[in-house]
Amino acid sequence: MSTEIFCGYGPVDAYLADGFERVPGMSSRFSAAICARVLRRQAEAGFKGPVVEIGTFEGRFLVAMALALEPGERAYGFDTFDWPDEQVEERFLANCRANGVGPERVAAVRRDSRNIAPIELRNATDGKPVRFLHIDGDHSPETVASDLALAQSVLSPQGVIAIDDVLHPEFPFLVVAVHQHLRAHPDMRLMCVIDREDIVAAAKFLLCRADAVALYEQDLMTRFAAYHYIMGGDALGHLCVVLTPKPRIFRLERARE
Ligand SMILES: C[S@@+](CC[C@H](N)C(=O)[O-])C[C@H]1O[C@@H](n2cnc3c(N)ncnc32)[C@H](O)[C@@H]1O
Repeated sequence: MSTEIFCGYGPVDAYLADGFERVPGMSSRFSAAICARVLRRQAEAGFKGPVVEIGTFEGRFLVAMALALEPGERAYGFDTFDWPDEQVEERFLANCRANGVGPERVAAVRRDSRNIAPIELRNATDGKPVRFLHIDGDHSPETVASDLALAQSVLSPQGVIAIDDVLHPEFPFLVVAVHQHLRAHPDMRLMCVIDREDIVAAAKFLLCRADAVALYEQDLMTRFAAYHYIMGGDALGHLCVVLTPKPRIFRLERARE
């Protein structure tokens, strides 16, 4: 049973309440609500641009992102669309339609992310800098490193890169690629850790440029106060926001009882 969390934006919340669980997929409702809030925060601040997901599957997460868009904006689902069968792209588009997301707001792009050049991604997304890019394709450290480099090259100044399954026990070294990326891009910060709901719906990391952190961090801590782990996260010399379905702090007194 997933956390009853909402992002505060009607169209997304209606999908989270009734629709999200019916779309097969691996992303958590918890992370979808928080990422949709990030998109709304950008929209409220006047920052526009496309949304991209690498690894779309049947669209569980991307539908939520598409519903958070402003008129005229589009979400692009990049996937090889060959797993577990060749009909997965049709099911993705049917799930979009069933949840009120038409072709004017979403597009399926059948590609292997490892072979996409930045210029191709830019052309496929109308040449505009991307304001939110979710990395959820092949989880090997090598592919995540390559997806991160691609994401970085198309990101808008206030853009956010979300990386799925960073602390998933099945992918213990995925985090190494994230660490190396942050070391190679000192202007980037780990802005928020979104904790897991369970072993399938695992944690996401949100990265953005250092000068964009202020746009999001207080908003996330306030909006999701019930889920805010107030100790924060040690993020390479900075503190990042940590949001978790059940925040609690270890208390020594209790441990001694
Ligand atoms: C974990 S699923 C994605 C879950 C989805 N984001 C959701 O919300 O449920 C991973 C997807 O990544 C796709 N994928 C794996 N390797 C890929 C690659 N190199 N390029 C593009 N997509 C890839 C798979 O086909 C699969 O649909």
